Amino acid sequence: MALGSAPINGAIYRLDTEEASVLVRCVQKGGPSIVYWGARLPDHQGDTAWADHGGVLDRAVPHGGFDALQPLFLVGASDTVYAGQPILTLRRESGPVRTVWRHTSILEAQDALCFKLTDPGESLEISVRIEVVCGLIVIGLNVTNSVDAPLFVDHCAVSIPIPERLCRIRVFHGQWCGEFQQEDIELRSGLYARESRAGRASHHGFPGFVLSERPPVPDAGECLAVHLGWSGNHRMGVEQLSDGRRHIFAGPLLEPGEICLSEGQTFHMPSLYGCQSQKGLNGIRACTHRFVRSQLVHRKMPPHVQLNTWEVVYFDHDLDRLTALATDAAALGVERFVLDDGWFGRRTDDRRGLGDWYPRPSAYPDGLTPLSDHVRGLGMTFGLWIEPEMVSADSTLFEMHPDWILGPSDQTMGRTQYCLDLAQPDCFTHLRQTLLDLVGKAKPDSLKWDMNRDRVGAITQGQPSNHRQVLALYRLMDDLRQAYPKLEIEACSSGGGRLDYGIVARCDRIWLSDAHDPDIRAQIFEGFSVFFPPELAGMHVGPSPSHLTGRSLSMEARIALALLGGFGLELDVCALALQDKQALQRGIAFFKRWRPLFTDSRFEHISYRDESVTGFRMIEAGGRRSLIAVFQRAPRNLPSPGALPLCGVNPDFDYILQCVMAPQSLRSRAKRQPAIWTDASVTVSGAALLAFGLPLPVLAPGEAAILSMEACVT
Ligand code: DGJ
Repeated sequence: MALGSAPINGAIYRLDTEEASVLVRCVQKGGPSIVYWGARLPDHQGDTAWADHGGVLDRAVPHGGFDALQPLFLVGASDTVYAGQPILTLRRESGPVRTVWRHTSILEAQDALCFKLTDPGESLEISVRIEVVCGLIVIGLNVTNSVDAPLFVDHCAVSIPIPERLCRIRVFHGQWCGEFQQEDIELRSGLYARESRAGRASHHGFPGFVLSERPPVPDAGECLAVHLGWSGNHRMGVEQLSDGRRHIFAGPLLEPGEICLSEGQTFHMPSLYGCQSQKGLNGIRACTHRFVRSQLVHRKMPPHVQLNTWEVVYFDHDLDRLTALATDAAALGVERFVLDDGWFGRRTDDRRGLGDWYPRPSAYPDGLTPLSDHVRGLGMTFGLWIEPEMVSADSTLFEMHPDWILGPSDQTMGRTQYCLDLAQPDCFTHLRQTLLDLVGKAKPDSLKWDMNRDRVGAITQGQPSNHRQVLALYRLMDDLRQAYPKLEIEACSSGGGRLDYGIVARCDRIWLSDAHDPDIRAQIFEGFSVFFPPELAGMHVGPSPSHLTGRSLSMEARIALALLGGFGLELDVCALALQDKQALQRGIAFFKRWRPLFTDSRFEHISYRDESVTGFRMIEAGGRRSLIAVFQRAPRNLPSPGALPLCGVNPDFDYILQCVMAPQSLRSRAKRQPAIWTDASVTVSGAALLAFGLPLPVLAPGEAAILSMEACVT
């Protein structure tokens, strides 16, 4: 970053991504405000051209309101006229701080701007960073206390005005086994806010949304997506101010007294990530996937095939059974064996044992080594489930340190467990050492790091401490990774209850949901993929009937969905019929052949006029090979299913289409099925595919089919 130092009052700075431009105007009194975030502006006009904008940034000032419409500053101040949601609220012991920001310097680089603002009267300093990182705009805010008097940060957020045309918001909410449900809401007057007060990003309030002009569709239209990379409480939304302007507000949700800065201390607001595309939700997917892959995930390798024991044995751990499971899994091509909940302490069910991270003597009298050695002897790696932030009342840890729990002992528990108070130094140190010892001794290649209850009422020594709990969690993960750089972490929180860029930056895989039923899972996956690349999500072939929905599901449909993410199994492979085993073996072999394509592929949702059908497409970088998956989630609305529209096909190429996975009863589902689904392989011109689309097969509800498409090299 070059030091451009002297701020010019009213100067406009420009940042560009491939698709979008951001203009930031900075005034001496108040600091920076985003005045444009939209389609990329013409290259020949640099920053200065926009400063003299011919008055198009002006807005009329109506009677009956303030005498001026001030910019909506990224960080509000007390000496500006703003009557919206609190943005930055600071307090001293003596009372509220009346902030008066003065812009003092700017650091300007090609892809980053950093504004320094001071409040001379209050000895405060803030810095606002706006940068382009791999196609995303990342906004950060730091607040520093420069005097020897405590400074309380009661609210910390940023404000970003949005154009009038973006009048719809798509939000993502849900529950255990029903994560990432999408809902479109038309913005009207007043406020639309999403919050989590659950101490995690939460199932019900994912910290991100998409703004658009019309209900967003996969391939077209302007969309602006924002996401707060924070694994704790948050508050974000869109507000229409009394003068009619709209803005986004977003930040962590803090409780009064939660953040107290002593002299020289700085509060770092979690980063806000945003991207803009004119190509609908698939345009957003392309940006976010590129960013997450290049900036956040550590494991750049294609995902491995994993078997997880949860739905196979639950708490019923028996060494002989698990050994046999590992043997059969390896024979199918599984590469990692993950021992889920139930292996430790007194953990014979979910009411006891958390906190005691040593092998359960009744199940593992000789420790975990006999099992892990067996697994490794079969050529697989070994993973372990843990839930370190929690403790059961029925555990040695609780008996020794009942004072380490967060909240009173007579609280209503979640899954019969307490949260540990990670803000207590002794508790944190113990936990950190326990985890280091566990990894040092059992030497797992991966940890499935779970968190199964909301963290509410977090108070440490009389002060709210939810924010500190999350920072402590990050520190635990960071320390562990530093000590064991090869250790992989799979983030889980009752499925996808804690999914955000803060946790993803510390993980290699995420457990998206306990719903394996392809019908439910396809919907979850569609919403999830707006912010995260598909291969990050473990996608497991679960048992049939589904333990959750009780529905019987074809093996092909379960495999089809798993092929789109991090392929895994969560079923008793020892008890499978031969036909199912063979299908799994084929599915795993296919996945292994194609997975190199996954780490930088383009992933698209294909929408179709019959909403009972969900389609996904995964396209290799360069566009030569792709996979198309079709899920018949409900009874068809159209008797003859028609053809799926395809874009991104080269009209000058011929493509070889091959059905990879389809129900065994496919032919009997209709008088005639399209040849591309029944013949060994069919060659079709790209021009024809673009003109006519991809003919869909007749599928029964709950069935799925996958096709590979390869451009012929001529
Ligand atoms: C919740 C997770 O979502 C499940 O996959 C499993 O790991 C259980 N916890 C274990 O208790």
